[in-house]
Amino acid sequence: MYSEKVMDHFMNPRNMGEIENASGVGEVGNPVCGDIMKVFLDIEDGIIKDVKFKTFGCGSAIATSSMSTEMIKGKTIKEAMAVTNKAVAEALDGLPPVKMHCSVLAEQAIKAALLDYSEKEGIEIDGLEEFDFTEPEH
Ligand code: FES
Repeated sequence: MYSEKVMDHFMNPRNMGEIENASGVGEVGNPVCGDIMKVFLDIEDGIIKDVKFKTFGCGSAIATSSMSTEMIKGKTIKEAMAVTNKAVAEALDGLPPVKMHCSVLAEQAIKAALLDYSEKEGIEIDGLEEFDFTEPEH
């Protein structure tokens, strides 16, 4: 039912933890199940130098948290903005349809951390204002 990549990222999650004095922190909850994810970003010169996460959630939420943080590490803010939950699910060789909502948590938490960063820095990030933090896709 779960791909090997999902199992691997669930059993050995990458980038778990937190960053002190992070450039941006985002915390979101999934209204479908009540699970929570927190993302810490360390951003320098527009590049995501480091990223860590804490997820209180199911295996799919942990696997997508792990994979999505791998996908944005070392990338520009613009590249990180382009990482959608669907792209993360694809990188994991798919999630069962009933677990797709879990992958939304990771995308939202990353965007929430970018929003926190943009507010602290007084900058605008393209596409962030239009982003809908409320409605998870199923
Ligand atoms: Fe809550 Fe997966 S069941 S995030």
